[in-house]
Amino acid sequence: MAATILVCIECGHRSLQWIGRCPKCGAWESFQGESDNSLIPRPVRIAEVRQSSNDRIKSGINELDRVLGGGLVPGSVVLVAGEPGIGKSTLTLQAAAGFVANGKSVLLVCGEESLEQVADRARRVGGGVGIDAVPDTDLPSLVELLSSHDVVVVDSIQTLRDPQLAGDQGSVSQVRSCAAAIGRAARASGSAVILVGHVTKDGTVAGPRTLEHLVDAVLLFEGDRGHQLRAVRSVKNRYGSTAELGVFEMRPDGLAQVSDASGLLLTDRQANVCGSVVTCMMEGRRPLAIEIQALAIDASGPARRVGTGIDNSRLMTLAAILEKVSGIILSKKDVYASAAGGLRAGEPAVDLALVLAIASTAKSKPLGPDIAAIGEVGLAGEIRGVPNMDRRIQELSRMGFSTVLVPSSASVEAESTKIVRTVDVKSAISFAL
Ligand code: TYD
Ligand code: MG
Repeated sequence: MAATILVCIECGHRSLQWIGRCPKCGAWESFQGESDNSLIPRPVRIAEVRQSSNDRIKSGINELDRVLGGGLVPGSVVLVAGEPGIGKSTLTLQAAAGFVANGKSVLLVCGEESLEQVADRARRVGGGVGIDAVPDTDLPSLVELLSSHDVVVVDSIQTLRDPQLAGDQGSVSQVRSCAAAIGRAARASGSAVILVGHVTKDGTVAGPRTLEHLVDAVLLFEGDRGHQLRAVRSVKNRYGSTAELGVFEMRPDGLAQVSDASGLLLTDRQANVCGSVVTCMMEGRRPLAIEIQALAIDASGPARRVGTGIDNSRLMTLAAILEKVSGIILSKKDVYASAAGGLRAGEPAVDLALVLAIASTAKSKPLGPDIAAIGEVGLAGEIRGVPNMDRRIQELSRMGFSTVLVPSSASVEAESTKIVRTVDVKSAISFAL
């Protein structure tokens, strides 16, 4: 059976729905039904569909290739999103150099910076030989160019412009339309595309978040510009796991891979300081020991809760629980908390460390230097279990923590670490402080 489509008898404009007035020529009541065979997709047997290519294009940068799921997939589009200045151009340039070193042709579309600036950066990070670059940001010419290289890096998607569409570069409609066109062109040509996209701190304004469903993978490049540590994590990946994290350090000569992230995160830690507690997060399969810091001071107005790398509403909830179950009065205190090193500590497993850090600053009492804490805190102040306890404790033990507070339900044995099972916040405080 053929599908029916409505066609304007005045101008030929086609529509799937009945409309009273043709949006193209303005004629009234001009649509007539017409059968259209071209609209019917031809079903195919799934077993006959050819297998997608498994040949990954590797950058040779392990921390990146692993997060990509083994490398770039030909014909796919990866969005690398992050705040301005975080190092997206540096990361993609170093990756481009790696693709070239692996025998692939790479085109850099430089919409953000002049070719001179890009070449300067390439010299600084010791790469760039063999990478082609164009300063063009016009969508149709880019689509034309796409098939000429194995990998195309577009820096950034916000600088592209589709001339058929109204709106400035970077507007949500331009960004979406350009990403969709590039996606189609990538699938058709088999070239892999990396789109660089800026996001603001809340991750919404500049558009890349609205692109997530148009691309095959989304990598978030995170960190604090004031720190050297950078993390790349995948929040969506059609071709791999989203449980991986790549860790880098920003150096004067570019991004360097970090294999001992816990070590780097704890380098500046001072033991025996009030308001500091170490915990262990899981980033994918990787345990990361991290220091949680808190500061409680008398509020001069309404009490504030400010988290850096820690969700504000979580901080408010935990401060409220602490006040309720321990009697430590925080309602007239400003409470600041941060995950040291510029990473985000969003996992419930850091709750106990955060609560202990606040209690420690409020009581002006430091924890013992080799005590760490892991556990989620429930609304009644109970300490709840979290997954991967063994790996977390192993990592903390590797970093020199000999005593770890854990939820009472944790079924974990450790030879060289003293495991302290705690039922609730109150008993954790009385043990640790
Ligand atoms: P950049 O890659 O330009 O960030 P983005 O593309 O995300 O806006 O790099 C950002 C910062 O990194 C820049 O302010 C300088 C610093 N940087 C280094 O410290 N070392 C380097 O080798 C490079 C290239 C940059
Ligand atoms: Mg840039």
